[in-house]
Amino acid sequence: MDAIQNILERVSVAQLTGPDISAEQKDILFRAALRAPDHAWLRPSRYLTLEGDARQYVSEVYYQSLPDKDQLSDEKTKKMRNRLLRAPLIVVAITRVQEHYKVPRDEQLLSTGAGIQNMLNAVHALGLGAIWRTGDMAENTAVKAELGLSADEIITGFVYIGHINTAPKSPPAMPVAEYVRAWTPEKP
Ligand SMILES: Cc1cc2nc3c(=O)[nH]c(=O)nc-3n(C[C@H](O)[C@H](O)[C@H](O)COP(=O)(O)O)c2cc1C
Repeated sequence: MDAIQNILERVSVAQLTGPDISAEQKDILFRAALRAPDHAWLRPSRYLTLEGDARQYVSEVYYQSLPDKDQLSDEKTKKMRNRLLRAPLIVVAITRVQEHYKVPRDEQLLSTGAGIQNMLNAVHALGLGAIWRTGDMAENTAVKAELGLSADEIITGFVYIGHINTAPKSPPAMPVAEYVRAWTPEKP
């Protein structure tokens, strides 16, 4: 597919289904993610994959950590317990923030964000669907500990990836002129 067309027509897809993403497809996705711009080549990003039972396991860790879990309705309990079962592949995108004289924290987080975006575009080019989510699970200390994150690591996103089983939404036509203008100095 034409590269520009691929970027312009990508949309997030929340309803995702199996089969599993193949090893070849995953290899492409991670090679795309690892081509993100990265100031001083600090390599601040790493990725974990959750597939099969691992998704249920981490969902349960999350659910068990919820302080109000006993007050939740049956429907909400099911939702929380199955949080990561909404796609066959969950990619946990992690930023390890390092002290650097030239590269502040935000730039390191942005590098992982750029990696995620590369991955989203590659997902679309492969005819798959994905959505970038964070939510309270990204801040959850039990989940972070279970996944083996160190104190200097941040979950920048959970990328849900799978096959598309519904008609994807159309990308909104963004009015470029509303967001972009040529800046010129004011004349005295
Ligand atoms: C950092 C970040 C975190 C996000 N977290 C969530 C989330 O937790 N849940 C969600 O439904 N969408 C979340 N989104 C939004 C979706 O990924 C997506 O951008 C949005 O649904 C718009 O869809 P589009 O990509 O087709 O324009 C997040 C986006 C970003 C950039």
